[in-house]
Amino acid sequence: MKDQLERIKAEALAKIEASDALEKLNDIRVAYLGKKGELTSVLKSMKEVAPEDRPKVGQMVNDARALIEEKLEATKKELARKAREEQMKKEVIDVTLPAKKSNVGHSHPNTIALEEVERIFVGMGYEVVEGPEVEYDLYNFEKLNIPANHPAKDEQDTFYINKDIVLRTQTSPVQARVMEKGKLPIRMIAPGRVFRSDEVDATHSPSFHQIEGLVVDKNITFADLKGTLAEFAKELFGEDTKVKFRPHHFPFTEPSAEVDVTCFKCGGKGCRFCKGSGWIEILGCGMVHPHVFEMCGIDPEEYTGFAFGVGLERIALLKYEIDDMRLLYENDERFLKQF
Ligand code: DAH
Repeated sequence: MKDQLERIKAEALAKIEASDALEKLNDIRVAYLGKKGELTSVLKSMKEVAPEDRPKVGQMVNDARALIEEKLEATKKELARKAREEQMKKEVIDVTLPAKKSNVGHSHPNTIALEEVERIFVGMGYEVVEGPEVEYDLYNFEKLNIPANHPAKDEQDTFYINKDIVLRTQTSPVQARVMEKGKLPIRMIAPGRVFRSDEVDATHSPSFHQIEGLVVDKNITFADLKGTLAEFAKELFGEDTKVKFRPHHFPFTEPSAEVDVTCFKCGGKGCRFCKGSGWIEILGCGMVHPHVFEMCGIDPEEYTGFAFGVGLERIALLKYEIDDMRLLYENDERFLKQF
Protein backbone atom coordinates (compact mmCIF):
# COMPACT_ATOMS: atom_id res chain seq x y z
CA MET A 1 0.00 0.00 0.00
CA LYS A 2 2.80 2.36 0.87
CA ASP A 3 4.56 1.70 -2.42
CA GLN A 4 1.37 2.28 -4.32
CA LEU A 5 0.93 5.62 -2.57
CA GLU A 6 4.49 6.64 -3.27
CA ARG A 7 4.04 5.77 -6.93
CA ILE A 8 0.81 7.75 -7.22
CA LYS A 9 2.39 10.73 -5.49
CA ALA A 10 5.51 10.72 -7.66
CA GLU A 11 3.47 10.29 -10.82
CA ALA A 12 1.07 13.09 -9.95
CA LEU A 13 3.86 15.51 -9.03
CA ALA A 14 5.76 14.73 -12.22
CA LYS A 15 2.68 15.33 -14.32
CA ILE A 16 2.01 18.63 -12.57
CA GLU A 17 5.59 19.65 -13.10
CA ALA A 18 5.29 18.92 -16.80
CA SER A 19 2.00 20.69 -17.41
CA ASP A 20 2.03 23.95 -19.29
CA ALA A 21 -1.63 24.97 -19.24
CA LEU A 22 -4.28 25.57 -16.60
CA GLU A 23 -6.68 23.06 -18.17
CA LYS A 24 -4.10 20.30 -17.86
CA LEU A 25 -3.82 20.97 -14.14
CA ASN A 26 -7.51 20.51 -13.80
CA ASP A 27 -7.35 17.17 -15.59
CA ILE A 28 -4.65 16.07 -13.19
CA ARG A 29 -6.74 17.13 -10.21
CA VAL A 30 -9.64 15.03 -11.43
CA ALA A 31 -7.45 12.04 -12.28
CA TYR A 32 -5.87 11.86 -8.82
CA LEU A 33 -8.06 13.63 -6.32
CA GLY A 34 -11.45 13.40 -7.97
CA LYS A 35 -14.27 11.06 -6.87
CA LYS A 36 -12.99 8.34 -9.16
CA GLY A 37 -9.40 9.47 -8.85
CA GLU A 38 -6.49 7.21 -7.99
CA LEU A 39 -5.95 8.53 -4.50
CA THR A 40 -9.61 8.24 -3.68
CA SER A 41 -9.63 4.62 -4.77
CA VAL A 42 -6.81 3.94 -2.29
CA LEU A 43 -9.04 5.25 0.46
CA LYS A 44 -11.85 3.05 -0.78
CA SER A 45 -9.69 -0.05 -0.46
CA MET A 46 -8.99 0.80 3.18
CA LYS A 47 -11.10 -2.11 4.30
CA GLU A 48 -8.37 -4.43 3.09
CA VAL A 49 -5.91 -2.84 5.52
CA ALA A 50 -5.51 -4.33 8.97
CA PRO A 51 -7.50 -2.23 11.47
CA GLU A 52 -4.45 -1.29 13.53
CA ASP A 53 -2.69 0.04 10.41
CA ARG A 54 -5.64 2.09 9.21
CA PRO A 55 -4.84 5.33 11.03
CA LYS A 56 -1.33 5.31 9.67
CA VAL A 57 -2.38 4.58 6.10
CA GLY A 58 -5.12 7.18 6.37
CA GLN A 59 -2.56 9.69 7.47
CA MET A 60 -0.33 8.80 4.53
CA VAL A 61 -3.16 9.23 2.05
CA ASN A 62 -4.02 12.61 3.54
CA ASP A 63 -0.39 13.71 3.40
CA ALA A 64 -0.16 12.69 -0.23
CA ARG A 65 -3.36 14.53 -1.01
CA ALA A 66 -2.15 17.67 0.74
CA LEU A 67 1.14 17.55 -1.10
CA ILE A 68 -0.51 17.16 -4.49
CA GLU A 69 -2.98 19.93 -3.76
CA GLU A 70 -0.21 22.25 -2.69
CA LYS A 71 1.78 21.51 -5.81
CA LEU A 72 -1.31 22.00 -7.98
CA GLU A 73 -2.03 25.35 -6.40
CA ALA A 74 1.53 26.60 -6.69
CA THR A 75 1.77 25.52 -10.31
CA LYS A 76 -1.55 27.12 -11.08
CA LYS A 77 -0.30 30.43 -9.71
CA GLU A 78 2.90 30.17 -11.65
CA LEU A 79 1.07 29.42 -14.90
CA ALA A 80 -1.29 32.35 -14.36
CA ARG A 81 1.68 34.63 -13.72
CA LYS A 82 3.36 33.48 -16.92
CA ALA A 83 0.15 33.96 -18.90
CA ARG A 84 -0.20 37.49 -17.58
CA GLU A 85 3.40 38.24 -18.46
CA GLU A 86 2.86 36.96 -22.01
CA GLN A 87 -0.26 39.10 -22.33
CA MET A 88 1.56 42.21 -21.10
CA LYS A 89 4.34 41.65 -23.60
CA LYS A 90 1.82 41.34 -26.39
CA GLU A 91 -0.04 44.48 -25.37
CA VAL A 92 2.91 46.75 -24.96
CA ILE A 93 2.08 50.24 -26.28
CA ASP A 94 4.86 52.26 -27.72
CA VAL A 95 3.95 55.71 -26.48
CA THR A 96 6.68 57.25 -28.59
CA LEU A 97 4.95 56.28 -31.87
CA PRO A 98 3.27 59.21 -33.65
CA ALA A 99 -0.46 59.24 -32.85
CA LYS A 100 -3.09 58.59 -35.48
CA LYS A 101 -4.74 61.89 -36.23
CA SER A 102 -8.50 61.69 -35.85
CA ASN A 103 -10.28 64.22 -37.96
CA VAL A 104 -13.02 65.96 -36.08
CA GLY A 105 -15.21 68.20 -38.19
CA HIS A 106 -16.37 71.67 -37.28
CA SER A 107 -19.75 73.34 -37.09
CA HIS A 108 -20.52 75.27 -40.27
CA PRO A 109 -20.81 79.07 -39.89
CA ASN A 110 -24.44 78.72 -41.07
CA THR A 111 -25.11 76.25 -38.28
CA ILE A 112 -23.47 78.44 -35.66
CA ALA A 113 -25.45 81.47 -36.86
CA LEU A 114 -28.71 79.50 -36.98
CA GLU A 115 -28.21 78.18 -33.46
CA GLU A 116 -27.64 81.73 -32.28
CA VAL A 117 -30.82 83.00 -33.99
CA GLU A 118 -32.82 80.08 -32.61
CA ARG A 119 -31.48 80.71 -29.13
CA ILE A 120 -32.63 84.33 -29.29
CA PHE A 121 -36.15 83.59 -30.51
CA VAL A 122 -36.69 80.50 -28.37
CA GLY A 123 -35.72 82.79 -25.48
CA MET A 124 -38.61 85.05 -26.49
CA GLY A 125 -41.01 82.11 -26.46
CA TYR A 126 -41.01 81.21 -30.15
CA GLU A 127 -41.44 77.68 -31.43
CA VAL A 128 -39.09 76.35 -34.15
CA VAL A 129 -41.02 74.65 -36.98
CA GLU A 130 -40.09 73.24 -40.37
CA GLY A 131 -41.78 73.02 -43.74
CA PRO A 132 -41.06 71.09 -46.94
CA GLU A 133 -38.34 72.18 -49.39
CA VAL A 134 -40.37 70.82 -52.27
CA GLU A 135 -43.50 72.93 -52.02
CA TYR A 136 -46.79 73.52 -53.77
CA ASP A 137 -46.97 76.66 -55.88
CA LEU A 138 -50.13 77.24 -53.85
CA TYR A 139 -48.18 77.76 -50.61
CA ASN A 140 -45.01 79.24 -52.06
CA PHE A 141 -46.88 81.89 -54.07
CA GLU A 142 -50.66 81.79 -54.21
CA LYS A 143 -51.51 81.87 -50.50
CA LEU A 144 -48.86 84.55 -49.98
CA ASN A 145 -50.77 86.89 -52.24
CA ILE A 146 -48.58 86.20 -55.25
CA PRO A 147 -51.01 85.09 -57.96
CA ALA A 148 -49.96 83.54 -61.27
CA ASN A 149 -49.14 86.75 -63.10
CA HIS A 150 -47.61 88.70 -60.23
CA PRO A 151 -44.22 90.28 -61.07
CA ALA A 152 -42.80 89.00 -57.73
CA LYS A 153 -42.89 85.56 -59.29
CA ASP A 154 -40.36 86.72 -61.81
CA GLU A 155 -37.98 87.95 -59.12
CA GLN A 156 -38.19 84.60 -57.43
CA ASP A 157 -37.74 82.35 -60.42
CA THR A 158 -37.18 78.80 -59.27
CA PHE A 159 -36.99 75.15 -60.28
CA TYR A 160 -40.32 73.63 -61.22
CA ILE A 161 -41.01 69.99 -60.50
CA ASN A 162 -44.21 70.42 -62.50
CA LYS A 163 -46.72 73.21 -62.99
CA ASP A 164 -47.98 72.94 -59.39
CA ILE A 165 -44.86 71.94 -57.46
CA VAL A 166 -41.68 73.97 -57.04
CA LEU A 167 -38.52 74.06 -54.97
CA ARG A 168 -39.58 76.72 -52.49
CA THR A 169 -38.10 80.16 -53.15
CA GLN A 170 -38.61 81.35 -49.59
CA THR A 171 -39.48 80.02 -46.13
CA SER A 172 -42.64 82.16 -46.15
CA PRO A 173 -44.90 79.25 -47.25
CA VAL A 174 -44.37 77.80 -43.76
CA GLN A 175 -46.39 80.82 -42.54
CA ALA A 176 -49.37 79.72 -44.60
CA ARG A 177 -49.00 76.10 -43.50
CA VAL A 178 -48.88 77.01 -39.80
CA MET A 179 -51.76 79.52 -40.05
CA GLU A 180 -53.92 76.96 -41.86
CA LYS A 181 -53.62 74.59 -38.94
CA GLY A 182 -55.61 77.21 -37.05
CA LYS A 183 -53.89 76.88 -33.67
CA LEU A 184 -53.76 80.43 -32.35
CA PRO A 185 -51.93 82.40 -31.13
CA ILE A 186 -48.82 81.71 -33.24
CA ARG A 187 -45.27 82.56 -32.36
CA MET A 188 -42.85 80.64 -34.54
CA ILE A 189 -39.65 80.72 -36.53
CA ALA A 190 -39.08 78.43 -39.51
CA PRO A 191 -35.50 77.97 -40.70
CA GLY A 192 -34.69 76.09 -43.87
CA ARG A 193 -33.21 75.77 -47.32
CA VAL A 194 -34.64 77.73 -50.24
CA PHE A 195 -33.92 77.76 -53.96
CA ARG A 196 -33.81 80.26 -56.81
CA SER A 197 -32.47 79.95 -60.30
CA ASP A 198 -29.70 82.45 -59.64
CA GLU A 199 -26.19 82.36 -61.03
CA VAL A 200 -23.45 81.72 -58.46
CA ASP A 201 -21.46 84.80 -57.45
CA ALA A 202 -20.08 86.35 -54.26
CA THR A 203 -23.57 87.15 -52.95
CA HIS A 204 -25.83 84.65 -54.78
CA SER A 205 -26.34 80.93 -54.83
CA PRO A 206 -29.14 78.77 -56.33
CA SER A 207 -29.59 77.27 -52.89
CA PHE A 208 -29.38 79.17 -49.62
CA HIS A 209 -31.18 79.45 -46.28
CA GLN A 210 -33.74 81.68 -44.68
CA ILE A 211 -35.33 81.98 -41.28
CA GLU A 212 -38.98 82.96 -41.34
CA GLY A 213 -40.73 84.46 -38.36
CA LEU A 214 -44.45 84.77 -37.68
CA VAL A 215 -46.50 86.09 -34.79
CA VAL A 216 -50.30 86.08 -34.87
CA ASP A 217 -52.48 87.11 -31.96
CA LYS A 218 -55.10 89.67 -30.98
CA ASN A 219 -53.83 93.26 -30.87
CA ILE A 220 -50.41 92.66 -32.44
CA THR A 221 -49.13 95.95 -33.86
CA PHE A 222 -46.19 97.31 -35.79
CA ALA A 223 -44.76 98.37 -32.41
CA ASP A 224 -44.47 94.70 -31.45
CA LEU A 225 -42.64 94.03 -34.70
CA LYS A 226 -40.25 96.92 -34.09
CA GLY A 227 -39.56 95.96 -30.51
CA THR A 228 -38.98 92.33 -31.38
CA LEU A 229 -36.56 93.04 -34.23
CA ALA A 230 -34.72 95.74 -32.26
CA GLU A 231 -34.15 93.23 -29.47
CA PHE A 232 -33.12 90.55 -31.97
CA ALA A 233 -30.55 92.88 -33.57
CA LYS A 234 -29.09 93.82 -30.20
CA GLU A 235 -28.72 90.21 -29.14
CA LEU A 236 -27.18 89.20 -32.45
CA PHE A 237 -24.85 92.11 -33.15
CA GLY A 238 -24.31 93.80 -29.78
CA GLU A 239 -26.07 96.00 -27.24
CA ASP A 240 -25.40 99.26 -29.12
CA THR A 241 -26.98 98.11 -32.38
CA LYS A 242 -29.82 100.30 -33.68
CA VAL A 243 -32.42 99.35 -36.27
CA LYS A 244 -33.97 101.36 -39.09
CA PHE A 245 -37.19 100.43 -40.89
CA ARG A 246 -37.31 101.43 -44.57
CA PRO A 247 -40.67 101.19 -46.34
CA HIS A 248 -40.68 98.39 -48.89
CA HIS A 249 -43.10 96.11 -50.69
CA PHE A 250 -43.77 92.45 -50.09
CA PRO A 251 -47.00 90.97 -51.45
CA PHE A 252 -47.89 89.12 -48.23
CA THR A 253 -47.36 91.96 -45.74
CA GLU A 254 -48.86 95.44 -45.50
CA PRO A 255 -47.22 97.69 -44.53
CA SER A 256 -43.86 96.11 -45.34
CA ALA A 257 -40.34 97.21 -44.52
CA GLU A 258 -36.74 96.35 -44.94
CA VAL A 259 -34.67 96.54 -41.80
CA ASP A 260 -31.13 97.89 -41.54
CA VAL A 261 -28.88 97.67 -38.50
CA THR A 262 -26.11 100.08 -37.59
CA CYS A 263 -22.81 98.76 -38.87
CA PHE A 264 -21.25 96.82 -36.02
CA LYS A 265 -17.80 97.45 -37.47
CA CYS A 266 -17.85 101.26 -37.38
CA GLY A 267 -20.85 101.79 -35.11
CA GLY A 268 -22.66 103.76 -37.83
CA LYS A 269 -19.98 106.26 -38.80
CA GLY A 270 -19.45 104.65 -42.18
CA CYS A 271 -16.68 102.29 -43.24
CA ARG A 272 -15.65 99.94 -46.01
CA PHE A 273 -17.77 97.18 -44.44
CA CYS A 274 -21.05 99.12 -44.69
CA LYS A 275 -19.95 100.83 -47.91
CA GLY A 276 -19.78 104.15 -46.13
CA SER A 277 -23.48 104.31 -45.20
CA GLY A 278 -23.23 103.24 -41.55
CA TRP A 279 -26.17 100.84 -42.12
CA ILE A 280 -26.41 97.20 -43.16
CA GLU A 281 -29.59 95.62 -44.50
CA ILE A 282 -30.49 92.38 -42.74
CA LEU A 283 -34.10 91.38 -43.35
CA GLY A 284 -37.58 91.97 -44.74
CA CYS A 285 -40.71 92.20 -42.61
CA GLY A 286 -44.21 93.57 -42.27
CA MET A 287 -47.72 93.17 -40.89
CA VAL A 288 -49.48 90.07 -42.24
CA HIS A 289 -51.73 91.08 -45.15
CA PRO A 290 -55.46 90.66 -44.37
CA HIS A 291 -55.92 88.80 -47.64
CA VAL A 292 -53.27 86.25 -46.59
CA PHE A 293 -55.12 85.77 -43.28
CA GLU A 294 -58.35 85.14 -45.18
CA MET A 295 -56.76 82.63 -47.54
CA CYS A 296 -55.38 80.77 -44.50
CA GLY A 297 -58.67 80.72 -42.60
CA ILE A 298 -57.95 83.42 -40.00
CA ASP A 299 -60.33 86.34 -39.44
CA PRO A 300 -58.34 89.57 -40.07
CA GLU A 301 -60.93 91.53 -38.08
CA GLU A 302 -60.07 89.55 -34.99
CA TYR A 303 -56.39 88.80 -35.43
CA THR A 304 -53.34 90.72 -36.55
CA GLY A 305 -49.75 89.64 -36.86
CA PHE A 306 -46.29 90.35 -38.12
CA ALA A 307 -43.81 88.36 -40.16
CA PHE A 308 -40.18 88.61 -41.07
CA GLY A 309 -37.66 86.76 -43.20
CA VAL A 310 -33.90 86.71 -42.62
CA GLY A 311 -31.23 85.34 -44.93
CA LEU A 312 -29.14 82.96 -42.86
CA GLU A 313 -26.05 83.25 -45.06
CA ARG A 314 -26.31 86.99 -44.86
CA ILE A 315 -26.19 86.82 -41.06
CA ALA A 316 -23.28 84.37 -41.12
CA LEU A 317 -21.31 86.47 -43.64
CA LEU A 318 -21.86 89.62 -41.60
CA LYS A 319 -21.24 88.12 -38.23
CA TYR A 320 -18.03 86.38 -39.23
CA GLU A 321 -16.91 89.02 -41.74
CA ILE A 322 -16.75 86.63 -44.65
CA ASP A 323 -16.68 88.48 -47.96
CA ASP A 324 -17.63 85.72 -50.41
CA MET A 325 -20.69 83.51 -50.01
CA ARG A 326 -19.10 80.78 -52.13
CA LEU A 327 -16.72 80.01 -49.26
CA LEU A 328 -19.72 78.76 -47.29
CA TYR A 329 -20.39 75.97 -49.79
CA GLU A 330 -16.89 74.72 -50.53
CA ASN A 331 -16.52 72.66 -47.36
CA ASP A 332 -12.87 73.53 -47.07
CA GLU A 333 -11.82 72.51 -43.59
CA ARG A 334 -9.17 75.25 -43.41
CA PHE A 335 -11.95 77.79 -43.86
CA LEU A 336 -14.56 76.14 -41.64
CA LYS A 337 -12.36 75.64 -38.63
CA GLN A 338 -11.80 79.37 -38.20
CA PHE A 339 -15.20 79.93 -36.63
N1 DAH B 1 -39.81 85.94 -48.23
C1 DAH B 1 -39.13 87.19 -48.47
C2 DAH B 1 -38.02 86.98 -49.47
O1 DAH B 1 -37.60 85.87 -49.65
C3 DAH B 1 -38.58 87.76 -47.19
C4 DAH B 1 -39.68 88.24 -46.28
C5 DAH B 1 -40.10 89.56 -46.34
C6 DAH B 1 -40.27 87.39 -45.40
C7 DAH B 1 -41.10 90.05 -45.55
C8 DAH B 1 -41.30 87.87 -44.56
C9 DAH B 1 -41.70 89.20 -44.66
O2 DAH B 1 -41.93 87.09 -43.70
O3 DAH B 1 -42.68 89.66 -43.86
O4 DAH B 1 -37.57 87.92 -50.04
